[in-house]
Parts: sequence; C-alpha cells; structure tokens
Amino acid sequence: MKHLEDIQGSRVYGRRQGKALSEARQARMDKWMPEIEIRLPVTEGEASAPPVPPQEYFTESLRDYWLEIGFGKGEHLAAQAAAHPGVGMIGSEPFLNGVSGLVDQVDQQGLSNVRVFMDDARLLMDSLPDQSLGRAFILFPDPWPKARHHKRRIVSAGNIAVLARLLKDGAELRIGTDHMEYCRWIMAHMLDNEDFNWLADKPQNWQSRPEDWPATRYETKSLAQGRKSSYLRFVRRPRS
Ligand SMILES: C[S@@+](CC[C@H](N)C(=O)[O-])C[C@H]1O[C@@H](n2cnc3c(N)ncnc32)[C@H](O)[C@@H]1O
Repeated sequence: MKHLEDIQGSRVYGRRQGKALSEARQARMDKWMPEIEIRLPVTEGEASAPPVPPQEYFTESLRDYWLEIGFGKGEHLAAQAAAHPGVGMIGSEPFLNGVSGLVDQVDQQGLSNVRVFMDDARLLMDSLPDQSLGRAFILFPDPWPKARHHKRRIVSAGNIAVLARLLKDGAELRIGTDHMEYCRWIMAHMLDNEDFNWLADKPQNWQSRPEDWPATRYETKSLAQGRKSSYLRFVRRPRS
C-alpha cells in the first residue's frame, strides 16, 4: 500500500513540519502511529480505489464515527474521544507537530478510539462512503484573508457538498472561527447549500461555545488576545 501523497502530490497550503520532535515525542510517534494512522489504499492505473467505511480503521465495534478536519494539536479531538468512548474519532491534520500533540494525548489517556490521517482531509473525505459520518468538526480553519488566497479556504462550496454526502441525515457539522470576514463567508456558503440547516435562532446560540464543544488551542489563544469567536452548528437535512 502506498501513501496517496506519493502519487498525487500535496494539496495542503500550510506547514507540514515545525521544529524537530524531541526524542521522547518521536518515540511516542513510533509506538502509536503504526496502530492509529490511516493510510489510504491506492489502486494501479486509472481505477479509483473503492470507498473505505470508517469502521475498517478500528479494531472494536463502535456506534458512530466523527471526523475532525485540521485538529491542530488535538485537544478537542482527544476530549471528544474521552467523552464518547463508543464513537470512533477520526482526525485529519497534515502538520507533523500537531499530530505528535494528539499522539501524546492518546498515549497519556490510553484512547483506543482515535485514528489519524496525516494529510489533506480532502483525500480522506473522497475515500469515505456516503452517509458514513455522524458528526464533523472544522474548528478555527486557516482564514486565508487575502482575496487571492480565498480559494485555499477549507470551507468551500465543493467541500461542503462532500460533507453533505458523507454526513448522515440529522448529523451535525460544527465550524468555529474568530475571523469576522471568514464567518460571513462560511455563513454565505452554508446558507447557500440546501443540504444543511443552521441550528441557531438567536445570537446566544452561536456567540458562546456549547458545553460539549471543548476548547481548542487556537481558540484559547484567540480569546486571550481579546477576539470573539463564532460557534456555528449546522444539521444535515434528511434526504427525501
Ligand atoms: C488555524 S489551525 C487550527 C487548529 C485547531 N483546529 C485549533 O483550533 O487549535 C488550522 C489547522 O488546519 C490544518 N489544515 C490546513 N489545511 C488542511 C487540510 N487540507 N486538511 C486537514 N487539515 C488542514 C492546519 O495544518 C492547521 O493545523
């Protein structure tokens, strides 16, 4: 089995690696990644690989599978995994030092329901079958503020359509941001998509973080710098 990136090239715009990992962190990566890393199958020639149901990545039987796109250092993902041991938490993050942060938490907390895809979330999403996810999170995605970089934004019409395909009827999509203009962009794109309903009817619903939405590292820093965040929750409309 080859890693998809080996043949397709990268579609990731941010950093893939920061400073070198310490010996201890590298040792934890070496111990855990063979067990928890998702590596996508690749077929030879023109044929595309058949979809891989999320349960194939886990050894135990779980009641649902949730996806976090761009989990950073993994605080939210690890907290959700600990709070919901019956759910398979799948995270996608191309930044090695971020993945190492999550692996440290898997190691410390003994989390058996976490799997990691260390690459562009879109490659993983394309490989999953329809209606295979019970929840998805995109928390504080890079805002790419310059107009010429907007096409890099992970919240886009194309990616929303893919999430609409993957999420089960009634499943939630949560998006957090502290960037006003990106928030407007997200709302415009989400409201433009007929497959999702916004779950807010008053500002209190989106101006404060719900209790079952653990804080992320990015959000904590942003709050300390005096910025406010929006906590957007959408639900996949039932297919008719
Ligand atoms: C601003 S950071 C936020 C990290 C984390 N969610 C938090 O709130 O602390 C955005 C993250 O998205 C990741 N990212 C960017 N493009 C991505 C992609 N195509 N697939 C998966 N993750 C991506 C980056 O590596 C980065 O860690």
